[in-house]
Amino acid sequence: MLRLEKLTKVYKTGDKALNAVDLDVPKGQVLALIGPSGAGKSTMIRCINRLVEPTSGTVTLDGVELTSLGLGGLRKERRRMGMIFQEYALVERLTVMENVLSGRLGYVGFWRSFLRKYPQSDVDEAFRLLDRVGLVEMADKRADELSGGQRQRVGICRALIQNPSVLLVDEPTASLDPKTSRQIMRLIVELCEERELAAIVNIHDVALAQMFVSRIVGLKLGTMVFDGSPADLTEDVLTTIYGDEDWSETIQKVDEDDEVDAA
Ligand SMILES: Nc1ncnc2c1ncn2[C@@H]1O[C@H](COP(=O)(O)OP(=O)(O)OP(=O)(O)O)[C@@H](O)[C@H]1O
Ligand SMILES: [Mg+2]
Repeated sequence: MLRLEKLTKVYKTGDKALNAVDLDVPKGQVLALIGPSGAGKSTMIRCINRLVEPTSGTVTLDGVELTSLGLGGLRKERRRMGMIFQEYALVERLTVMENVLSGRLGYVGFWRSFLRKYPQSDVDEAFRLLDRVGLVEMADKRADELSGGQRQRVGICRALIQNPSVLLVDEPTASLDPKTSRQIMRLIVELCEERELAAIVNIHDVALAQMFVSRIVGLKLGTMVFDGSPADLTEDVLTTIYGDEDWSETIQKVDEDDEVDAA
């Protein structure tokens, strides 16, 4: 279980990106984090694995407080947090297999990783994962020869081979077409259920979030303004999260169209 308590981030610039956020994510739960640009979604994900240092508050994963760990302890705990990014962050000139295996770098020793010598058990697991996401035939292809959807599947395998207990996912579908986006979201949710992983998925596409996850959290200016089921996410709630301006503009457009129709 992942627990955030009063998690706060104020950047050097004075931007209060995260404002005392309290959140529990139990094992096996996939939570979608929505909110307008600048709401603090990426900041929240990065504060959890301390790519960004929180200003105050705590993050606890399976009883271990991450926020008070030193560098050595943090490196070890980071293995338990798989990251998946919008831009995939694959090594282009390496093969699919090598990219997946790079997820084990936190485990194998320095020389082994320098020589890229992975234990057979890691290679076997990489094949199993690639098979699970439908890419086993592409194991020897170079990453730069893949489509966006295929690249994201590789990114998912690379995160899972770490054997994490939580997945942190930042805009996994932002570069993908609608159908591929659905396939990737479905895959993430299924894998989390199979492996009992907690996951936080930052996502701009509210409809996509509603389609696949059971819990949605809304952030606005660093503050949690909604926490509920997809069915609770009414138009009023969306107005609270995204603001009046967006919706009134939408309504205005409808009015204009009506006038055109009338004319
Ligand atoms: N490295 C940084 N230094 C200073 N301010 C930052 C930094 N990163 C983010 N911010 C600020 O913190 C706030 C939250 O940004 P964040 O990137 O977390 O938002 P987001 O919800 O992920 O937005 P988007 O949907 O556009 O990705 C913004 O006001 C942003 O300008
Ligand atoms: Mg972001």
